[in-house]
Amino acid sequence: MTDKKITDLISNMTLQEKAALCTGATPWRTVAIERLGLKPIIVSDGPHGLRRSQDIESLITESFPATCFPVAAALSASWDTDLLYEMGQALAEESLALAVDILLGPGLNIKRSPLCGRNFEYFSEDPVLAGEMAAALVKGVQSKGVGTSIKHFAVNNQETRRFTVDAIVDERTLHEIYLRGFEIVVRKGQPWTVMCAYNSVNGHFCAENKYLLTDILRDQWGYEGFVMSDWGAVHDRVASLQAGLELEMPGPSPHRTQAVIEAVESGELDEAVLNQAVERLLKIIFRAQATPKGHQSIDIEGHHALARRIASECIVLLKNDQHILPLTGNETLAVIGEGAANPVYQGGGSSHIHATKVDSALEFLKTRAEVQYVVGDSSTAVNPVATAEAVAIAKEADVALLFIALPASIESEGYDRTGLDLTPQQIALIKAVAHANPRTVVILNNGSAIDMREWIDDVDAVIEAWLPGQAGAGAVVDILYGDVNPSGKLGETFPLRLSDTPAYLNFPGENNQVRYGEGIFVGYRAYEALGRDVLFPFGFGLSYTQFEYNNLRVSASNFTVKDTLEVTLDITNLGPVAGKEVVQLYVRDCQARLRRPAKELKAFAKVHLASGETKSITLKLDEQAFSYYDPAYSRWVAEPGEFELLIGSSSTDIRLTQGVRLTQGTPLPSIIHSESTLGDWMEDPVASKVVQPLLASIFGLNEGNTLGVDATTFFKDLPLTVLLGFQGGQLGASPQQIVADLLKKLHSVETRQPA
Ligand code: BGC
Repeated sequence: MTDKKITDLISNMTLQEKAALCTGATPWRTVAIERLGLKPIIVSDGPHGLRRSQDIESLITESFPATCFPVAAALSASWDTDLLYEMGQALAEESLALAVDILLGPGLNIKRSPLCGRNFEYFSEDPVLAGEMAAALVKGVQSKGVGTSIKHFAVNNQETRRFTVDAIVDERTLHEIYLRGFEIVVRKGQPWTVMCAYNSVNGHFCAENKYLLTDILRDQWGYEGFVMSDWGAVHDRVASLQAGLELEMPGPSPHRTQAVIEAVESGELDEAVLNQAVERLLKIIFRAQATPKGHQSIDIEGHHALARRIASECIVLLKNDQHILPLTGNETLAVIGEGAANPVYQGGGSSHIHATKVDSALEFLKTRAEVQYVVGDSSTAVNPVATAEAVAIAKEADVALLFIALPASIESEGYDRTGLDLTPQQIALIKAVAHANPRTVVILNNGSAIDMREWIDDVDAVIEAWLPGQAGAGAVVDILYGDVNPSGKLGETFPLRLSDTPAYLNFPGENNQVRYGEGIFVGYRAYEALGRDVLFPFGFGLSYTQFEYNNLRVSASNFTVKDTLEVTLDITNLGPVAGKEVVQLYVRDCQARLRRPAKELKAFAKVHLASGETKSITLKLDEQAFSYYDPAYSRWVAEPGEFELLIGSSSTDIRLTQGVRLTQGTPLPSIIHSESTLGDWMEDPVASKVVQPLLASIFGLNEGNTLGVDATTFFKDLPLTVLLGFQGGQLGASPQQIVADLLKKLHSVETRQPA
């Protein structure tokens, strides 16, 4: 549909029709306008499979079977954008089959605390990893004519009081940590829709937050789709339209339509705002309808196989003492844990998928080895009998495999975790089995970090299998036997203990308010700055082979913000088996006007290498990779100076480094004003030159200085006007006049470089 046709259509719509289109007709579809031949579109949860309601008229009903892929927490550990694109295509194919126009996902809120109940649905503690993974998924889905809805925009990092809590977050942290991932997806993937979060940010509900929905999303990032509310996030429909929220969900909601009509009639709402919202909605509705849906069928077996392959790329091998893994195939096995037979493979809440089929590790293992199996635990209460059974079979087997899942009652949408521990029964079981069998492997199913201090030293190997989707069991077996060499790396730090986590003192807040007091120091950015040890660092994961990094070269050692740096290195697989390595490029700003983390992830690549093979990898860095968000300028700033490029196999295992120098940074206007201090004037390279002659005369006048310290340092925090006032009129003009003249001189210099 051309822009002209859309404009014509809008001019034929009544006020009532336009207002009605801005709210859903049912929980899962938009309004139809038969008179004009306008058909509805259907939206459906997501994100790691389709929860397409069989009855789109009601909110909570049985959904159609669909493939349950690994959750986002797992997906980020693959660090594989091509894989996410492929999964996106498969999700789109299922959407086509189930007549879904827009998939409600992916979710990419930052894992501020491992306690967030919905962390399993989110990618990472790092905005670049989260943003890149989400962008790849969005592009994959949308490549087939199905839309996405990136969510929850923004600063929705906990479930506690998620509908009402006010997140208090400073401007720099907002941009660098909580918005950056969304910015990456919007710029790279242009998602058809964005879903606003329930909570408020700095006193304004996201649904009515013009700063987020219009000033940043549209004006700064160039967003072209429409914004929909999370289900029930709108408080004031007219205010939300004015802020830039086009579709309220769920519907129907006749009183909302009426409120919009009355607001237009009374003049409170400019009809042009409504028209613009309708235009944005229609563009996406027609784009969705350009791809016919509902005639295809789901490739159940093909997608199940894909889900297994994806899961095998996400699994992280956390520990493998004495190379106990991979198994040779000759061992007898004691398989323990309910999860071996009935896997915990997804989380609870709106993302819960009615899987097409679910594999069991136990069934696969029985085809590979002589297996004894007991459930061993009930997850909630210490059970000595069950533990004794587990110990008995563990004693007889060559290897004990313990399947340990965090109970769904602990980790879900709707509420947060209260701690990082497994249940006491699970811990007791692990310790007892490890004591009985010196070759014990723990396989974990969980959506976010857990505290392992009590038992990790007792076991030989730990496999983090996340919530790996319906085919995850097969992937675990692939890793156990080395059919797939593990290549997953953590997308989140596993801390030693809850009290070490950066948000610990401010999570989940009090009195309906949560203060993001740790600022930009989230995840590895914090642990490194605080010098705190962790259990497993961000980016960590073992392999059955070893990789060597060599020969780092950078396209230029001096560069400007206009250049793109190309960072190339050679990587070799030294071991006897093929494998994949995730090469991570971090940037360290050696000195800056604002405090910066010791390193930040800026680029990464996953590379496959046959045994003995060497490949060259090139990663690119542009201005953004060297920038921080400076609230003083309300923009991203790349400050000239020295940077270090750090190439690592994890955030703490840095293999290669090289210094580079940014010679020319972001051009910036002066921010010196009439109240600026002497220090401000002197730190500014242009202003310092402008003020220099005056200072020479002042400190010349003060030759008989009796302060005992350097006068400029002593006075640096005084507004220049105050300092001039101390000269007792010796300077002729008033201090205000002198500063005004200096400012005029300064502003005649158009742009400048920051210090
Ligand atoms: C969730 C969203 C979901 C929506 C529709 C909300 O409660 O926060 O993620 O898409 O419900 O089910």
